[in-house]
Parts: sequence; structure tokens; C-alpha cells
Amino acid sequence: MKDTSRREFLKSTGAAAIGGTLAFNIGLPKSSFAANSDTLKVGLIGCGGRGTGAANQALNADPNVVLTHMADIFQDRLDLSINSLKKRHADRVMVENGNKFVGFDGAKNVIDSDVDVVILTTPPYFRPKQLEMAVEAGKHIFCEKPMAVDAPGIKRVIAAAKKAKEKNLSLVSGFCWRYHSAKRETFGRVLDGAIGDVHTVYNTYNTGALWLRDVEPDWSPMRKKMRNWLYYNYISGDHIVEQAIHSIDMMSWALGDVQPVKATGTGGRQSRTGKEYGNIYDHFAIVYEYENGVKGFHFSRQQKDCSGSYGVEMMGSKGHCVVDCGRGRHTIKGAEDWRFRGSGNDMYQQEHDELFASIRSGKPMNDGAWMARSTMLGIMGRMVAYTGQTITYDQALNSEEKLGPDEITNNTEFTDPPVAKPGITKFI
Ligand SMILES: NC(=O)c1ccc[n+]([C@@H]2O[C@H](COP(=O)([O-])OP(=O)(O)OC[C@H]3O[C@@H](n4cnc5c(N)ncnc54)[C@H](O)[C@@H]3O)[C@@H](O)[C@H]2O)c1
Repeated sequence: MKDTSRREFLKSTGAAAIGGTLAFNIGLPKSSFAANSDTLKVGLIGCGGRGTGAANQALNADPNVVLTHMADIFQDRLDLSINSLKKRHADRVMVENGNKFVGFDGAKNVIDSDVDVVILTTPPYFRPKQLEMAVEAGKHIFCEKPMAVDAPGIKRVIAAAKKAKEKNLSLVSGFCWRYHSAKRETFGRVLDGAIGDVHTVYNTYNTGALWLRDVEPDWSPMRKKMRNWLYYNYISGDHIVEQAIHSIDMMSWALGDVQPVKATGTGGRQSRTGKEYGNIYDHFAIVYEYENGVKGFHFSRQQKDCSGSYGVEMMGSKGHCVVDCGRGRHTIKGAEDWRFRGSGNDMYQQEHDELFASIRSGKPMNDGAWMARSTMLGIMGRMVAYTGQTITYDQALNSEEKLGPDEITNNTEFTDPPVAKPGITKFI
């Protein structure tokens, strides 16, 4: 059986349906691991902190999974990643030299290979295109949040997710709290009415400063920016989209992932103003307004030596629920008081356990609709803060503003958009 037909078979039947007797040569290098017809091959695109973690979790999820292809734009990142993964999974990290890709074409090489599953963990700028390519190539996908940096990107993600569904491909997102057992039970109770009708959600992601990586003087300007991608809004989406999106996602979860009507907000940069910090803000405060007067209040900052807070509080007609991500507390005060007393789980592992189980069972998962909605809420928050305008959800989603260039490579020359100024920066 050729690999292509094997993949078709995997897609249409689920790997579990493939008998172990259909052994064939799948061209893997020599290893103590005996690859067989049920073996699922994984390709990692973006071998940084999260990508390495996700590949480890993929290998933990299922004993018959191997990592065969990797891509990054920096050799040292790829080397670090593969060395770390080999320490944990010596026999199932089977990446031949010809399957290690360094450069901006690497993602395409991995997606066009014979892998069954791709892990998309590059900076978010690349996500829409890589998602499209992966779905087109018939791969199952784990993709990190956020899903895009602008509204045109979100539209591409929505379309790709729809196509993944049509093609029976699994698509799992890195909105990890949705895979956390304590959060699942807590939000499940809230959605079942434990605090009555939720009318207000307050959510925070107030944290300190983040990393700044060394760059080589002879690198091109874009290569330097790629090393510190967080600080360029067209690559990361700004921190409300790149990081605080986890809290906004939980707000959306508590409200049943319905569409808000409009948002108003503010933000800026006060403590992180140096050139090395690109063009992003260091704080945001947004009010999301939903039907029937329901409101969501979001606060986030990345400012060192300030108080921290990461969580969601939900106020309802019959009670109050607090989810404190920092302390790991989940409490409800309502008709019946409750707190989560379980031991919780490893949410990152859970994402991959469910992804691989879904592939094995031939029952595809698809996080597409809500992962796109939550990311769009972050983008909308950034839009209202940058412009100082009140913007409806429909206006935000139909925005034609593309933050970055059509393509990024080491040689791309692109002038960073200036730091946004409310009242002066226009909504496009
Ligand atoms: N769910 C979570 O809790 C969580 C935690 C951390 C990061 N993330 C998300 O994961 C993604 C990656 O974050 P990270 O912390 O691992 O960052 P990172 O910088 O450590 O890793 C990103 C890697 O992608 C590489 N890369 C950049 N462009 C590429 C391209 N076009 N092709 C191939 N490789 C490319 C970079 O060189 C880098 O090694 C981001 O979207 C981030 O928001 C999620």
C-alpha cells in the first residue's frame, strides 16, 4: 500500500480500523521502535517552547506515534527542540536529516510530506496560511492559539476549519483551559445555570514583562524581528491577542460563545516603551457588550513590578463564580455553594490525548468555530483600544485591515506600523 492511499484510508476510516496485518514499508529510519501500519506520523512546525511541548505531548498521547518531520526558521531552535525531545522519546523521534527544514519554506515541506498530523506552533501571523495548507493536504491538526492577527486572517481560519470538517479531519486548538478538567466542570456548571443567567464577566491577564532574545548584528531587520516576534503586532497580534486571549476565551466560554454586539476600550504603552519592544501596547482595558445588557470586562497588562491577576469572575442572577488560574481555585456561590476539589489534569496533555483518540476512533474533533470567535474577540479588543472607537462585532469581523505584509521571509522589507494612538489611528 502506498503512503498516499494509506493516508486516504486513515482519513476515511480512522487508523483503528486498519489491521496490523497490513504491514508496509513507511520509510522510517532504523530505530528500536517498530513502525507499523497503525503508526501515526507527526510533523512539527515551529520548534520553540510550545511546539516542543506539544510534540512531547503528542508522543505521550499514543504509544504508536512518531515524530518524523520538523521545521523552524532558526537552526538553533530546531536543534534545541530535537535534542530535548530525543531525551524523552529516544526511539520515536525519527527525524532524518533530510526531514529537518530550516527556513520559511519548511512549513510547506512538512505539510507536503507523508505525515498524518501537523503541529502548528509558529507565531500567529503564519497560522491562517498554514492551516489552509494543512487542511488542503488532508492532515489532522493541532494548532496553537491565537489563530490569526487580523480579521482577514480569521475569515481564512473559519473557512479552513469548515473544510477540515467536510474532510473529516481533526482540528484541535491550543486554547488549553478548555481541556482543563477543573475548568470544564466549573464552566459546565455555570452554563447549566448554577449562578442563574450570567450578566457580567470580569476577566484579567495581568502579568509581568516577557522575554527579549539576543539577536546577531548581521541578521536582516526582519530576521531580528522574527527572533523577538512578540513585540510586533503584525506577527503576534499584540499581547491582548497573543497572551491575554486565554482570559477572553474563558469569558466567551462562560457566555456560551455567543457573538457580542460591540466593544469599547482603551490601552497604551507606559513602561515598555523602548525600540526593542516594537510597536505593541503594554496594557488594555476593554468592555464587551452583549445582547440584553450582558457585559464582559477585560483587563490585561505586561508590566513588571505590578500586581498580577489571571482569571475570570462571573456574576449571575442567582450567584457568583470565581476561576482563579493563578491559585487554581474554582468556586461557586449560588443556590448551592461548590468548589472544585479534584486534583485536576495536565490540560496540554489532554489536548493531545483527545486529538489522537479522535483520529484513532475516526470521530474527528473540530474546535474551529469557537477558536476563531475567541481570537476575533481579542482582535476586536485591540481594534477598539488602538482607535479609541466603539466598534460592532460585525464591523470588526468585516474589517479589511491586514496588519502585516502578504508574506514574510528574512528579506522582507516592511515598515512597522507606528504605535497606535487612540483618536488618531483609524479603524479600517
Ligand atoms: N497555549 C499556551 O498556553 C501557549 C503557551 C505559549 C505559547 N503559546 C502559543 O504558541 C505559539 C508559539 O509560541 P512559543 O512560546 O512557542 O514561541 P517561540 O518563539 O518559543 O516558538 C516559535 C517558534 O516558531 C519558529 N518560527 C517562526 N516563524 C516560523 C515559520 N514561518 N516556520 C517555521 N517556524 C517558525 C520560531 O523560530 C520559534 O522557534 C504562539 O502562538 C503562542 O501564542 C501558547
